[in-house]
Amino acid sequence: MTDTPPHTTPWQTLRLTRKLAAEARESDASQAAMLEWMEAELFDAGALAVTVLDAEDHPLNEPLPGEQPLWPHVIVEALFAADQSMDQALIALHHAGVIRADEHIELDTLADQVWTRAWMDDFKPMVFGERLWVCPTHTPPDPDWPVVVQLDPGLAFGTGTHPTTALCLRWLDQWALHASPASDRPTVIDFGCGSGILAVAAAKLGAQRVWATDHDDQALRATQDNAEANGVAASIETLRPDALIGHTPIPKVDVVLANILAQPLIELAPRLIDLVKPGGQLVLSGILTTQTAAVKAAYASLDGHPQETADGDWVCLAFAHQTGCHYN
Ligand SMILES: C[S@@+](CC[C@H](N)C(=O)[O-])C[C@H]1O[C@@H](n2cnc3c(N)ncnc32)[C@H](O)[C@@H]1O
Repeated sequence: MTDTPPHTTPWQTLRLTRKLAAEARESDASQAAMLEWMEAELFDAGALAVTVLDAEDHPLNEPLPGEQPLWPHVIVEALFAADQSMDQALIALHHAGVIRADEHIELDTLADQVWTRAWMDDFKPMVFGERLWVCPTHTPPDPDWPVVVQLDPGLAFGTGTHPTTALCLRWLDQWALHASPASDRPTVIDFGCGSGILAVAAAKLGAQRVWATDHDDQALRATQDNAEANGVAASIETLRPDALIGHTPIPKVDVVLANILAQPLIELAPRLIDLVKPGGQLVLSGILTTQTAAVKAAYASLDGHPQETADGDWVCLAFAHQTGCHYN
């Protein structure tokens, strides 16, 4: 990894404008469902990222977990690789009904610098807890920072600027301060690794082995790149969720970190619980305050009450799995 921004070729963009209020009148939920469906079809057609803009005044809607744009009139902008055949993508999108026959669409190219600036401008060195610093790869770290993760998220989620990630990083910092001696260094799963920020932080804080999984190949690539840039690639394995969950026997680790949305956390509960060793920890993030009770209910089979931390509207739950050694 170098100081230059990644992906120096231009991207292709496809923009289409929709009046959601006219098409999905019933509720905010149906508007959100329509956008989710459009996003899924765009990803199926090869999009690498999808952004939703308010067509009235065009503020950028950052794709944060749990947030759904509910503007009546939106622009959906999809980003494709420079070498993607747009003819093929457009045929697929027409076929799926995402683009109508009479619909005006805009195709353009976008210099990579424009795309990367969105995260680079907001991404400054940050400290989490007592020792853990995260800084962009283009910023030289201060020699006084005890533990440093240098990060380039590429197209994946996770710089530490979002509260859901920050909560996990603070938990990791505290956990590492109280972790076992080096002879018994813990194992970790980062479920929904995005940029790999949590996986790399866990490795830098002393984890012996980290499995980082995501259903998005861009995320696996970003995690691999960030692991290499931070000199911890030997302790981080990236793999798709089916390879991890379908593994027999299921690997059991000391810490499972899952910063994904409340609904997938609820659906994945039995499988995530299965990944934790007795005495281990299960850290769940990406949960809105209003969703906390539902997530706790899905994990009720775990002993005791989870440790609960919050940042704004976001909550992080850390469960101890049965009795035994605790790292926190
Ligand atoms: C909010 S981001 C978190 C990224 C990073 N771990 C962090 O803390 O910033 C959630 C990530 O989980 C992935 N994800 C969501 N649902 C998933 C699932 N069911 N299986 C695997 N990955 C999933 C997404 O692709 C995304 O990269």
